Amino acid sequence: MSHNLLKGKRGIIFGALDEQSIAWKVAEKCHAEGASISLTNAPVAMRFGKINELGEKINAQIIQADATIIEDLENLLKQSQENLGGKIDFILHSIGMSLNVRKGKSYTDLNYDFMQKTFDISAISFHKLMQTAMKLDAVNDHGSIVALTYIAAQRVFPDYSEMAESKALLESFARSFGYHFGTQKKVRVNTISQSPTMTTAGSGIKGFQEFYDYANKMSPLGNASAEACADYCVFMFSDLSRCITMQNLFHDGGFSTMGLNPAILNL
Ligand SMILES: NC(=O)c1ccc[n+]([C@@H]2O[C@H](COP(=O)([O-])OP(=O)(O)OC[C@H]3O[C@@H](n4cnc5c(N)ncnc54)[C@H](O)[C@@H]3O)[C@@H](O)[C@H]2O)c1
Repeated sequence: MSHNLLKGKRGIIFGALDEQSIAWKVAEKCHAEGASISLTNAPVAMRFGKINELGEKINAQIIQADATIIEDLENLLKQSQENLGGKIDFILHSIGMSLNVRKGKSYTDLNYDFMQKTFDISAISFHKLMQTAMKLDAVNDHGSIVALTYIAAQRVFPDYSEMAESKALLESFARSFGYHFGTQKKVRVNTISQSPTMTTAGSGIKGFQEFYDYANKMSPLGNASAEACADYCVFMFSDLSRCITMQNLFHDGGFSTMGLNPAILNL
């Protein structure tokens, strides 16, 4: 059911790899709510993912960009404005990758070159994106920028490894850049802290199924799905959320406020 909440708005969505991706669901919902969209992903994801399928389905142009490379981001922002016919109203940063996790390195035996690359992809890319957008004056007044994060930024989830620090950095960039973007352009910057979700990035975490089941039992509403996350993103991109900025917003069925749920004792 569409409410035309994004009618006439132009957006850029990073990170749709396949139909499991949270970004995929967000792109579909934004399209259904009347937005025109550019889709983007890293060159390697173009080859192995299914983004072309999504592009056809929602009539979106696909512009490849490695989010760690400034020239790619400049090209993406310029081309998107040209294709969509004006400045950008909303951006979703839905990017995460840990080299140490992927290579099976434990948290007490991290490779620091990998770690820097992890931070660059998963967090610094967010600053690079906002800085490039600000320099190019590519975002409309009262635009909305959202990045996806996880509660391991605040609490310890041992198997999340260096992604915990990546998310802490990402959330801090949202607050700090949110000040500058808000003051200069009235642009809003927030992070949404999402429940465990079955996706390529999610299931890369060791013991993900147990992790998922635990959070599901702990949360009074159960885990928030990718579809529900997409609904929240639509709200955050719409004018209904026009006074929300510099926040880390938990979208987790209540998980973040729980201490103990008796349901967990019956696991
Ligand atoms: N799945 C979960 O349990 C969960 C929970 C909370 C937050 N998140 C966050 O949601 C976001 C999306 O992840 P997802 O779960 O949909 O998984 P996903 O694997 O579908 O998406 C991750 C995306 O990051 C892209 N990416 C990696 N390196 C890149 C680069 N250099 N440049 C541009 N793009 C690059 C990948 O190609 C992929 O499309 C991530 O930030 C993730 O940390 C996921």
